[in-house]
Amino acid sequence: MDIIQAIRERHSVRAYKDQKIEEDKRQKLQEAANACNAESGLHIFIRYDDPEGFDSRLAHYGSFRNVNNYIVLAGPVGEEIEEACGYYGEKLELEAQMLGLNTCWAALTFNKKMVKKLIPDGQQLCMVIALGYGEDPGVPHKGKNLDQVVVSRGNMPDWFRKGAEAALLAPTAVNQQRFQMGIKDGSPVIRIDGRGFYTKTDLGIVKYHFEAASGRKVK
Ligand SMILES: Cc1cc2nc3c(=O)[nH]c(=O)nc-3n(C[C@H](O)[C@H](O)[C@H](O)COP(=O)(O)O)c2cc1C
Repeated sequence: MDIIQAIRERHSVRAYKDQKIEEDKRQKLQEAANACNAESGLHIFIRYDDPEGFDSRLAHYGSFRNVNNYIVLAGPVGEEIEEACGYYGEKLELEAQMLGLNTCWAALTFNKKMVKKLIPDGQQLCMVIALGYGEDPGVPHKGKNLDQVVVSRGNMPDWFRKGAEAALLAPTAVNQQRFQMGIKDGSPVIRIDGRGFYTKTDLGIVKYHFEAASGRKVK
């Protein structure tokens, strides 16, 4: 599976099978997480065979079932880690999808109290991503169309259309899709549009989708 297929096939999955993630897949994800940390200065790590991270009333209320593995997104204290966690978290989410695994972002509906204990001093917890073999592959979200999120007028270059379509397939908190895309001085630009929850994290996620599909760096 290539990254474009992974972008198309990724949907939030909240119920998981009792199937362990194989050692070779763990190794590949670890290498990917190490590369993300080296590039970003974040402190991302993966917990395997640890049901406690999603063992809370809120997690069950949020319809998570049988989550035994999860990616922890953390980094140096400060607001700027939110967008970076979105960008690198989505990179790892798509790596997992390419390995045949399923995922779901969780900002609220997990056992935050327990996960916080795993974060070293000087670092802060951003959020987590549930990981494993889903009971099913999930379903595509309904959402905005290109006209609602593209601000540039006129013909879209092919690379821009590819990037914009992939951005619309990105997960966003409560599927809010609060972003706008355009071209400035020949380069793609993506901005948050309006107020919402976790919009900075969403922005990082959406930028990663755009870049992976278009091959262009977003400003
Ligand atoms: C930043 C962020 C935070 C999220 N937090 C939660 C959460 O706390 N609980 C939950 O069940 N889903 C959460 N989600 C998943 C979204 O509801 C989901 O991505 C969105 O509805 C779009 O669906 P899709 O991922 O299937 O495309 C979150 C997604 C993002 C991007």
